[in-house]
Amino acid sequence: MKIGTPLSTTATKVMLLGSGELGKEVIIELQRFGIEVIAVDRYENAPGHQVAHRSYVIDMTDGDALKALVKKERPDLIVPEIEAIVTDMLAVIEEEGLAEVIPTARATQLTMNREGIRRLAAEDLKLETSDYIFADSFEELQQAAKLIGFPCIIKPVMSSSGKGQSRLESESDVEAAWQYAMDAGRVNHGRVIVEGVVDFDYEITQLTVRALNSDDEIETHFCAPVGHIQKNGDYVESWQPHPMSESALEKSRDIAEKVTTALGGRGLFGVELFIKGDEVYFSEVSPRPHDTGLVTIITQWQSEFALHARAVLGLPVDTSLRCDGASAVIYGGKNAKAISFDNIEKALSVPSTEIRLFGKPEAFEKRRMGVAVSSGSSIDEARGRARLAASTVKPV
Ligand SMILES: Nc1ncnc2c1ncn2[C@@H]1O[C@H](COP(=O)(O)OP(=O)(O)O)[C@@H](O)[C@H]1O
Ligand SMILES: [Mg+2]
Repeated sequence: MKIGTPLSTTATKVMLLGSGELGKEVIIELQRFGIEVIAVDRYENAPGHQVAHRSYVIDMTDGDALKALVKKERPDLIVPEIEAIVTDMLAVIEEEGLAEVIPTARATQLTMNREGIRRLAAEDLKLETSDYIFADSFEELQQAAKLIGFPCIIKPVMSSSGKGQSRLESESDVEAAWQYAMDAGRVNHGRVIVEGVVDFDYEITQLTVRALNSDDEIETHFCAPVGHIQKNGDYVESWQPHPMSESALEKSRDIAEKVTTALGGRGLFGVELFIKGDEVYFSEVSPRPHDTGLVTIITQWQSEFALHARAVLGLPVDTSLRCDGASAVIYGGKNAKAISFDNIEKALSVPSTEIRLFGKPEAFEKRRMGVAVSSGSSIDEARGRARLAASTVKPV
């Protein structure tokens, strides 16, 4: 593996599609290797724009705009950070040899739509998942919900961060859920998945890395399991390692290995799993760093962002754990532009704690604006510290 000099004819160029807080950390890791980084997002001054060599604002669902930018910049690698990209154009770009898509264009196509990844996991790979039925209209949804039974969960097939998702307790909830899904789905395809509720004991993210070894072969590496709490489809707290039985851990890694091998390519993946006793259910997978993995900034020698950067560049990785730790989200607390954060010094006086502020130009009450990460001699201690630090930071 050779890396050139940025801003010269020998530069090794990486284009990030999506430049939020996760992309920002990946960019910082790429910068450390002297990579020339081009950050793309749909709005100006996105977190990753602020640490890249060049930045662009385009509509990443517009195929022509995307292809024109790739032709102009000619990156060696394209690293998608979000799902809402015209992935069919990524396939064209890959096929025409314009750039390599991480992990593969096909993986981005399969995972941008809940149907693609669910059918791959449940029907091709025969992994355990919740029961599910797809529906294209209100009438079909009524039928599907009855077949799955209540409670059930409905989600637009194209959506993330819990948008458009609701839990239905009875038939009388179906109409509102359909309306909510239609209003919030990313691209209004009018297609939803109805899932049976998995009554899990806990859920984890199995961070999994596909990286080259010294023989130039892809090897799969596993991070320690990340436990987390979700509220309204967004993560509020995560910690690592989540305690698990040998058998559940083994099953989790087996599922993660199967899913990531089927998706292929190089990079880090966040495999979301539900665990009940020793049973493990596949839920979904991100072919990129996962928000719950922010905790690895403090818990691993190489954070999930460093692992992704190394894997995509074809470099070796080390997924070993450094210490027990936890993360807690810092929210905007209000709807306003150019807000400030007070009490940072107090938050940082919590032992073994670090704060990241993402630098987003506009806050919303429930927008993730930063994160506190803490280590501790136990998960409980680390969680307490991260929660305390996050709640000490005051958006003003
Ligand atoms: N079938 C299910 N059974 C139980 N809980 C679920 C189910 N589907 C989703 N959830 C809960 O909702 C969260 C978000 O769902 P997910 O499918 O991951 O959506 P998103 O793509 O928005 O992250 C999950 O992490 C889990 O806590
Ligand atoms: Mg999820």
